[in-house]
Amino acid sequence: MIYQYCGKSGVQLPVLSLGLWHNFGSVDDFSVATQMVLKAFDAGICHFDLANNYGPEPGSAETNFGRILKENLASHRDELFISSKAGHDMWPGVYGGNSSRKNLIASCDQSLKRTGLDYFDIFYSHRYDGVTPIEETMQALIDLVRQGKALYVGISKYPPELQQRCYDILKEAHVPCLLSQYRCSMFDPKAKNNNFQIASDNGSGIICFSPLAQGLLTGKYDNGIPAGSRASKSTGFLQESQVTPERVEAVKKLALIAKERRQSMAQMALAWVLADERVTSCIIGTSSVAQLENNLETLQNLTFSAEEMEHINNIISNPSLWF
Ligand SMILES: NC(=O)c1ccc[n+]([C@@H]2O[C@H](COP(=O)([O-])OP(=O)(O)OC[C@H]3O[C@@H](n4cnc5c(N)ncnc54)[C@H](OP(=O)(O)O)[C@@H]3O)[C@@H](O)[C@H]2O)c1
Repeated sequence: MIYQYCGKSGVQLPVLSLGLWHNFGSVDDFSVATQMVLKAFDAGICHFDLANNYGPEPGSAETNFGRILKENLASHRDELFISSKAGHDMWPGVYGGNSSRKNLIASCDQSLKRTGLDYFDIFYSHRYDGVTPIEETMQALIDLVRQGKALYVGISKYPPELQQRCYDILKEAHVPCLLSQYRCSMFDPKAKNNNFQIASDNGSGIICFSPLAQGLLTGKYDNGIPAGSRASKSTGFLQESQVTPERVEAVKKLALIAKERRQSMAQMALAWVLADERVTSCIIGTSSVAQLENNLETLQNLTFSAEEMEHINNIISNPSLWF
């Protein structure tokens, strides 16, 4: 594994982290979930990314992860970097979601209970909710650190016009933003144009999610929607309508470049995200140990020639491919 510092901090993360948004809920196979976590840990992936609402049902990914930890990794807590987040809906009702102090503080307690942890290594505001003042949300994060419930804090998906204010409030309280989490893939490069630079200028690390565009950038949708894939599942976040002929054609072209690089399509897509020097880590999702093993081999070839980059950029520069 390769490790990199999170911005201007003393914390290193593996360049590949494992996310538990899909495939770790109560609807999923617990033994496969266990094998994936253990395989990841053995390969040096010490960062696991959670949120209160991951499942389905919401909360069940944290419950399952807590059980996996207790049964297999109980003596390894200090070798792990575990995140959680609050801000998206857990249940219908005025206190079931959003970025208020009420929700963040209560949600962190619920997440600690579900995972059986004493503290999270990092706790995020999962999103700007469009209403709650930034000051209220950031103060809740600061207080979670003061209460010992989180070692570090982060922001996720904050729009560029609000990022600077977040960093300023956190810095003033001596709780600097460790990580800024943004979606980034060959099919979603928008954050590279603004959010990344603001984060980097403020000393925050950058961690990218959905680097494979939820599986689209693996080639698995080349001949339609395979059974068992995320787009085929009613519980999957990737919609069939997002598997467009244009995106599938672009993946076929990209796969030719990957082949020349002797990489799988997924490996090249991950290497592309990591090629941006501002990026600390990218959070992958997997539904099997075989996928995880395939993705780990990305580390064998992380560099691109200028010619390869130009060729790739020509294919992905069409905004109609972007999410
Ligand atoms: N902050 C936020 O708001 C936010 C939002 C979304 C995600 N995240 C975080 O980011 C993590 C990753 O997101 P993601 O799951 O969308 O990431 P992703 O890596 O883009 O997609 C993962 C999916 O791609 C497929 N896949 C992965 N490796 C493959 C391989 N080698 N060959 C074939 N298929 C492969 C699998 O889908 P199949 O099921 O089809 O096999 C897998 O479930 C989440 O778990 C979460 O922790 C954060």
